[in-house]
Amino acid sequence: MPHIHYLPDDRTIEVDDDDIILEASLRAGISHTHICGGSARCSTCRVLIVEGLEFCSPRTSPEEELAKKLGLEPEIRLACQTQIAGGKVILRRLAIDSEDLESFNDQMTGNSISPPIGHEKKIAILFADIRGFTPFAESLLPYDVIYVLNRYFQKMGYVINRNGGMINNYMGDGFMALFGLENPDKAAEQAVRAGVEMLEELEKLNPYFETLYRHRLRIGIGIHCGLVVVGNLGASESQTVTAIGDAVNFASRIEAANKKVGTSLLISEETYQEVKELAIVDRCVSVEIPGKSGEYPLYEVVGMPPLPVEIEDISKVEKSSIWKNLVNKLLALSAAVYNWIRKIWS
Ligand code: FES
Repeated sequence: MPHIHYLPDDRTIEVDDDDIILEASLRAGISHTHICGGSARCSTCRVLIVEGLEFCSPRTSPEEELAKKLGLEPEIRLACQTQIAGGKVILRRLAIDSEDLESFNDQMTGNSISPPIGHEKKIAILFADIRGFTPFAESLLPYDVIYVLNRYFQKMGYVINRNGGMINNYMGDGFMALFGLENPDKAAEQAVRAGVEMLEELEKLNPYFETLYRHRLRIGIGIHCGLVVVGNLGASESQTVTAIGDAVNFASRIEAANKKVGTSLLISEETYQEVKELAIVDRCVSVEIPGKSGEYPLYEVVGMPPLPVEIEDISKVEKSSIWKNLVNKLLALSAAVYNWIRKIWS
């Protein structure tokens, strides 16, 4: 017999095959919001199917229409339109109090940019931090601190964006960037390439800081790929995308491990497995990660091959076949040199 387990109530009820979730809730005395009375017009009955989506009926056409309008993920279902058959479903009711309802209402009227619930995704997370920034900042005027940080963040932000990521959180002189929010296929490669380019960009920036402040910036970067819950945080007018989960904490700890190991760019085993055909790795070290037991292998990345150049990007090159041939030959040559260097290196 099918069962429904309700969260956050932590209560299980037995239902008949083809029972509608909302009807089953009300019959069992579980308070389940349903402002439009079950006609797929309000979305307040919506639930997150945590487990057992395969035991839920396909969306009805009114539900399909509303889900499309609100951009609901497949696991968010309208309880008034969903039948259960054959197995156990674990679900979380999403409208628990009046604030949830207000948030849903904002979404229905288009005042909120996204649903008030996160989605699980596999992405790459990059943490970066400036080494020894606090003593350096103490020697500067506050105006100069802001100036240096903005200059640094601007350059790094450009590198992150160019590689398909986005900085979603600044923490003093550090930041977190996410890759693969739209398309997770190349998230690891994009993040590692961004990490390598950040170090190159810093090398170009440092003579400038040396001239102005007689100081070179050094940074530590940590990258990890894993499952996180991605969602929007904040009031509707100032929401930002963020990621929460163990993978985020792990990426942050990898960044911190650079200090211990004396490196600038470390990546996790999971990330390494996705970029090992491309990344130039100097060494692998085993490091204890605070809050976790045992040692974890971390890889120091020192290079990535450049991305293939699109002919359209070379604005000064005429798009004649002679130039195309020449550029393609140069690209093939640089790829051959790169592979040759990698072989020697390894
Ligand atoms: S009760 Fe309104 S959509 Fe289900």
